[in-house]
Order: sequence, then C-alpha cells, then structure tokens
Amino acid sequence: IRKKASMLFEEVVSSIDIDRRLFKEDIKGSIAHVEMLFKQKIITFKIKNKIIYGLQKIEKQISKGNFEFEKKYEDIHMNIEKKLFEIIGEEAGYIHTARSRNDQVITDFKLWIKSATTELNKNLSKVIKSILKLAEKNIETIMPGFTHLKNAQPISFSHYLMAYVEIFKRDQRRFNNNFESLNECPLGVAALSGTSFNIDRYYTSKKLGFNTPTNNSIDTVSDRDFVLDFLFSVSVCSMHISRIAEELIIWNSDGFNLIELSDKVVTGSSIMPQKKNPDLLEYLRGKSGLTFGNLFSMLTILKGLPLSYFKDMQDDKEIVFKSYDVLISCLKILDEILKNISPNKKRMFQLADTGFITATDLADYLVKNHSMSFREAYQKTAEIVNYAEKKRKKLKDLKIEELKKIEPKLTNEVLKIFDLKNSINSKKSYGGTSFEN
Ligand code: ARG
Repeated sequence: IRKKASMLFEEVVSSIDIDRRLFKEDIKGSIAHVEMLFKQKIITFKIKNKIIYGLQKIEKQISKGNFEFEKKYEDIHMNIEKKLFEIIGEEAGYIHTARSRNDQVITDFKLWIKSATTELNKNLSKVIKSILKLAEKNIETIMPGFTHLKNAQPISFSHYLMAYVEIFKRDQRRFNNNFESLNECPLGVAALSGTSFNIDRYYTSKKLGFNTPTNNSIDTVSDRDFVLDFLFSVSVCSMHISRIAEELIIWNSDGFNLIELSDKVVTGSSIMPQKKNPDLLEYLRGKSGLTFGNLFSMLTILKGLPLSYFKDMQDDKEIVFKSYDVLISCLKILDEILKNISPNKKRMFQLADTGFITATDLADYLVKNHSMSFREAYQKTAEIVNYAEKKRKKLKDLKIEELKKIEPKLTNEVLKIFDLKNSINSKKSYGGTSFEN
C-alpha cells in the first residue's frame, strides 16, 4: 500500500475547490448506481437503502452549507464517499462496486453540462425577447445600413435588430445540437475496460435521463469532445456578443451618436465629470478573450494525449465553469443593456440621408424603367453621383434638368427614388428590410 504523499502534492492534485460544484450530479449518479447494483443483486436491499439515506443526508448538508470539504480527499467523489463512511459506517464501502472515478466524473460532468446548456438557452431566450421588444417599437426607424462601416443602403433599425435574433437563435441551436453526445451515458465503463460485475448500463442510463450508454469503455474515459463542443458553442456565442457590443459602442460614440444608453448602464470617469462611458459594453466585448482562450486551453490539453484517463484532463472542469459563468454574466448584462437603449431617431435619419445612400435605388430604377442593363445603369448612376458630389448636393436636391443632362430619358418621376422610406419599402424580397417584412 502506498505511503502518504507530500503536502505539496496534495495541494496541487486536489480539485475539490472546483469540482464541489458537481455535488448534486455526483449524488444523483451514485443513487442511480446503487439502485442498479441492487436490481442486479450485486448489493442487498438494506445496503442500498442505507447508502441512499446517507447520500441524501450529504446532499442536504452541502446544500445548506453544513459540509466541510477537505482538500486531503482530493475531489468531490472522495469527499462524499468519506462522509458516507462517517454517516452509515462500513457498508459505505459497497458504493464504489463496479465503477471508478473515471466514469463517475464524466457522468457528473455530462449531467452538469446538460443543465448548464439549458440555463444558457433560457438566458438566450430572454435576450431574444428583449431584442424583439425593441425591434417592435422601431419598425419605421430609419438608419443607414453600413458595409465597411460606410453608408451603404438605408435600413429599418428593427431589421438590423432582427439580425441578432437570427444570430442568437442559431446559438441556441448550436447548444441544442450538443445534446446528442451529451445524451450518451458513461456510467459503468469503470476505470477503462468495463467491469466483471453483471451491471445494467441501460438501467442507469435511463434513470439519469440519458438516451443510451456509451459504446466503448476506452473511448468513454478518454473522450472530452463534449467539453470542446460546449466550449466552442460558448465561444461562438460570446463572439456574437462581442460583435453587437462593439457595434453599440461605435453607435454610442460621439462621432456616430446613433443610440443613447440610459444612466443605468454607463459609468463615469474619475477625472472627467461629463463622461458617460459604455464600460459594460466593453466588458462584453472583452470577455470573448477568456472564452476563446478556454477553448484553446482544452484543445491543447487534449492534443497528443494517449487514450484513457490522465490527470491532465482534470482541468476540464475549471475551464468549463469559468466559461459558463462568464457567458451567463454576459447574457444577463446584454439583456439589461438592451432594455436601456434608445435610438437617436433624428440622428439616424440624418446620417442615413448622407453619402448618396440611395444610389443603388437609382440604378435599379434605370434598369426597370429605361430598359438598361444593370452595368449600364450602374455607370450612369456613378456619373450622377460624381456630379452631385462636385456640386456638393444630395441626390434628392438635384433638379430634374441637372439629371436630364446626364440621362435625357429621366422624368420627374425619378425624384421619388431618393426618398429613404421609399427605398426601404422597395426591399420587399424575402428577408429584405421593407417595413412590411
Ligand atoms: N478528480 C478527477 C478528475 O476530475 C476524477 C477522476 C480521477 N481518476 C483518477 N484515475 N485519478 O479528473
């Protein structure tokens, strides 16, 4: 039997400060396991009941904060097992029949990630709702649509917001797709090769809400793909949050001044009394650094790792918990910000009314009404834009005589083309920006 390890080793190897978050899942898994052991006549009715009684007592203690976690017992699994001995005595020794911490920890972890995924999706739904609310109020709010951050074509502010509904719905779908691998139950593969006990893995799998047991015991203890899937989904979602945050920061800047943030979501400066800084948006933009980093940490830990269990993998929990906590906080903050934004409608319209933003509409008009090819119309429109630029006029301020000098076929009717609202409402194609859409 091995002698006691050095204190330094204990400090490094212990993960209890992190994996204690798995206590509910660990107890749930253990209860399903002993029920199965009893059903298979591997343990007696009395022992099963005693163990379950002890486990339930432990769960209450931990929930109430009456449980003392001990570093020397390494992780949540050993802490619970030790306590079980204290509560029910030697019969606690039957609990670890036909399992290993290797399958135990992944079972707990998969259960945890499943509920974390559900929680994230709930928060995404809240964000989506807040966007919808804001969009509903701004169907006829006209703003410039940008490409390269230069005025491109006028759009409805609500159409812009609805783009983010699609984005966050896709994030939800991405999280949901992960359920396929999360729904395979690892419990019962034991250390790496399965067990000689006559266990029923279908029974535990069903009890714990999984669809089916995993197929290969070696793969099962080695696999952390479900961790990568989760970290990737978190990264993509936080990248989206970072994009909307950056966009709102730009729009809130004094140069653009397209949106107003209420005092609830801005912070002051310690030296400049006039400042209202969008710190929270900057927090959102920056946090993607952490989530991407965590995804890469996990990929790097797994790279080159031979099959089966290694201590290297223990860090998976800390990484996932941090990414999860950060994303939850980002979603809550984003939701709060969305509730505290108002568009500066006048300024949005003004900005949309500059930069020859209806030039494409003029080209389309020439194609439709004066039977030109699009390229020919593009050329004519460019000439008109160049002329307007030289005269320092907006397209809508050009006189019909001036337009006719460049394109004699034009009539008074063309002037309505330069109206922003008309432009938006002409984009009736499926998925386009018309108010009606
Ligand atoms: N705390 C460990 C982890 O999270 C549990 C598995 C331990 N298995 C082992 N063979 N040391 O990875």
